[in-house]
Amino acid sequence: MRDARTVLVSGNWKMNENHFEALKLVQELAALVRVAPIPEGREVSVHPPFTSIRTVQTAVETDHLPFLLGAQNCHHEERGAFTGEVSAEMLAKLNVAYVIAGHSERRAHLGESDVDVRRKVDAILAHGMRPILCVGETLEERVAGAAVEKVRTQVSGALSGRSGEVVGGVVVAYEPIWAIGTGETASVQDAQDMCATIRSELSRLAGAGAAAAARIQYGGSVTPDSAGALLAAPDVDGLLVGGASLDAEKFVAIVRSTA
Ligand code: PGA
Repeated sequence: MRDARTVLVSGNWKMNENHFEALKLVQELAALVRVAPIPEGREVSVHPPFTSIRTVQTAVETDHLPFLLGAQNCHHEERGAFTGEVSAEMLAKLNVAYVIAGHSERRAHLGESDVDVRRKVDAILAHGMRPILCVGETLEERVAGAAVEKVRTQVSGALSGRSGEVVGGVVVAYEPIWAIGTGETASVQDAQDMCATIRSELSRLAGAGAAAAARIQYGGSVTPDSAGALLAAPDVDGLLVGGASLDAEKFVAIVRSTA
């Protein structure tokens, strides 16, 4: 199944890297991939904070770097009186390809609901970009045996009622909340099991063809040491990397990793 899909490794820079630092980081990444190109069948996206997207875009486009541009969030409305927000259209105009929707940090700290996340996915798709829909359970939910239900609800909340073509083009990132920024990676088996569950939910919503075409990432304390085994799992089609994506050498090692 993997053969039909391109692996997507995404760097979520979170609220790090002002535009000077972002330029330095992208130049470091560029120097590393110039020495040895990104392996065939792998796609890389970088997700700087809003204030650094234009800087990274200019570097990527001027030097033809093999990175796709990503954003970490957007507002669901097109425009208007939403002080401090950034619309999907504004991101599309910067040639952003992937937009993270519903990261657990935003769900937890900013109260984003499944309804909010669905609206963001609507806006991202309406502007020709692909969402990276983040889903995942807390430790309490896992211990209580409620993880599968939580994740299925998050997936269907954002993706129900969409065509097979649309669902086939989305990325879902399984990020167990207890593994994010904690240094505790899910076991390969746990990651595989939940990614398979997500694929079965996508199949229920939009058919087996769409589910096979959609890509499912794992995220949560991914390092160069854990990346290869995770990517070898049959339902893991990529990785969403936080902390380690701020270190060019580590991130490129993750991008290149094999089991
Ligand atoms: P982490 O973050 O790799 O630092 O755990 C992952 C994420 O939140 O996307």
